[in-house]
Amino acid sequence: MSELRFDGRVVIVSGAGGGLGKAYSLFFASRGANVVVNDLGSGLKGEGASASAADLVVGEIKKTGGQAVADYHNVLEGEKIVETAMKTFGRVDIIVNNAGILRDRAFKSMNDKDWDDVLNVHLHGSYKITKAAWPIMRKQKFGRVIMTSSAAGIYGNFGQANYAAAKQALVGFSNSLAYEGYKYNITSNAIAPLAASRMTATVMPQEILDSLKPELIAPLVAYLTHEETKQSGGLYEIGAGTITAHRWQGTEGVVFKADASFTPAAVKERFDEISNFDGKVDYPVSMKDNDWMGKLEQAKSLSTNKKGEELRFDGKV
Ligand code: NAI
Repeated sequence: MSELRFDGRVVIVSGAGGGLGKAYSLFFASRGANVVVNDLGSGLKGEGASASAADLVVGEIKKTGGQAVADYHNVLEGEKIVETAMKTFGRVDIIVNNAGILRDRAFKSMNDKDWDDVLNVHLHGSYKITKAAWPIMRKQKFGRVIMTSSAAGIYGNFGQANYAAAKQALVGFSNSLAYEGYKYNITSNAIAPLAASRMTATVMPQEILDSLKPELIAPLVAYLTHEETKQSGGLYEIGAGTITAHRWQGTEGVVFKADASFTPAAVKERFDEISNFDGKVDYPVSMKDNDWMGKLEQAKSLSTNKKGEELRFDGKV
């Protein structure tokens, strides 16, 4: 099997001063890429800033003969990060949107700042960098984008409403770019990693953390961003050397007669059927995969819906 290499490619890794971003940067550089090591050098909650995080990673890369430049901009200034890439290396081929912060709090205690700051770094930061690089990638007819989602975004998690909202949004963002980039050989994929970093240091026992090395995420990121890889619009969970692909599953569902008998009580009557994943299921991969026309036809042949008992909302606001 020949080694996948990135010679001459320019990779922007956001939030690359530590954790996963650092592991990606070292990996890409070791395979011949020119790496923009972006990091604001903030704390876990987004507080403060320091150039040293990015500098240390660049230093490490240069020591082994690799090519890298440090960039200290906030991801919200994505155009400046892309400018660093263009000024230093003259192109942008790969973006790994990775920078992140946490402001975990139960929703009842979450304030606007907790919400906005988390959405800003993860979602808007990924938008700003990708948006600035998009015309360049279109023009050169090559681009590879990674969005960093999270299991919390896929499934939701207690105390992470802000983070989960951002992380799920990144999946929809990535899937849309997969469509828009197709014609221009630009792919976009989302990953939901699990790795030991300052983000997970306090929430898992050391024994588990020891098996979750950040370096174990890099092979998937590198595969998905390689020039020979055409896969786009995917979502992968990865950690400790295991990778799983994810997709949507829909039940066969229930077609109702769209008349006056289509009431909340009629829905209640057949809700178990609507939710039955043990019967026939679908695996839609695009908005077009739901056969609305077929279902409309089917509905025409129905007589009426079972009425059930009327659901009332008296006194509720
Ligand atoms: P980390 O905290 O070690 O790294 C994040 C980096 O982003 C830090 O170096 C920080 O300085 C930088 N950063 C924060 N705000 C920034 C901004 N506005 N502009 C530029 N840089 C900024 O965390 P880790 O674990 O390496 O996480 C990397 C990504 O993976 C994040 O998006 C995180 O949400 C995601 N992730 C990590 C998981 C894990 O198990 N470690 C689980 C699921 C998702």
